[in-house]
Amino acid sequence: MRILVVFASKYGFTEKAAEKLRDELVAGKHGVTLVNLGKEEPPGIEGFDAVVIGGSIYAGFIRPEVRRFFRENLAALTGKKLAIFICGGLKNKAEEQIKAVFPREIYSRAAAKGYFGYGVNYEKMSFFDRIVMRLVSGRKENQFCLREENIKKFAMELE
Ligand SMILES: Cc1cc2nc3c(=O)[nH]c(=O)nc-3n(C[C@H](O)[C@H](O)[C@H](O)COP(=O)(O)O)c2cc1C
Repeated sequence: MRILVVFASKYGFTEKAAEKLRDELVAGKHGVTLVNLGKEEPPGIEGFDAVVIGGSIYAGFIRPEVRRFFRENLAALTGKKLAIFICGGLKNKAEEQIKAVFPREIYSRAAAKGYFGYGVNYEKMSFFDRIVMRLVSGRKENQFCLREENIKKFAMELE
């Protein structure tokens, strides 16, 4: 399959997760185009068999670049195989959040729905985000929790 993976990341964790997914899909002999929506414009989706959409969650919302991608591509996405994923610190609320942040027509048609973990990098964060994260998590050290088993399962479900 020719697979387009689009994602948005504020501090780089979701980018790492998307790269891991790309590696899994390439290992499965798929052609993968990876697009960071925060840095580049996505190509037209016509040339792809499947589209994977993912992003990190902030205060209950997926990154704004992902929401813009929906606004501009919702009609074109209806004919495609779809898969969706999130990254976020609230692992117990992963299923609830994934349902809440994607448009209903995308969520209900997704062949795979994934939770890829979370990362906290205090050096990269804005002052405000650092304060909120320290308060909410109660932890001062960086965290990196990539759910590789979930990414592998997701890649298999998409195939
Ligand atoms: C200000 C702030 C708000 C956040 N809000 C949420 C949230 O509502 N739900 C959640 O699961 N994670 C939340 N997180 C955690 C991030 O989604 C998580 O650290 C994610 O891995 C960041 O990925 P990124 O570096 O790709 O943006 C929040 C983090 C910050 C700093």
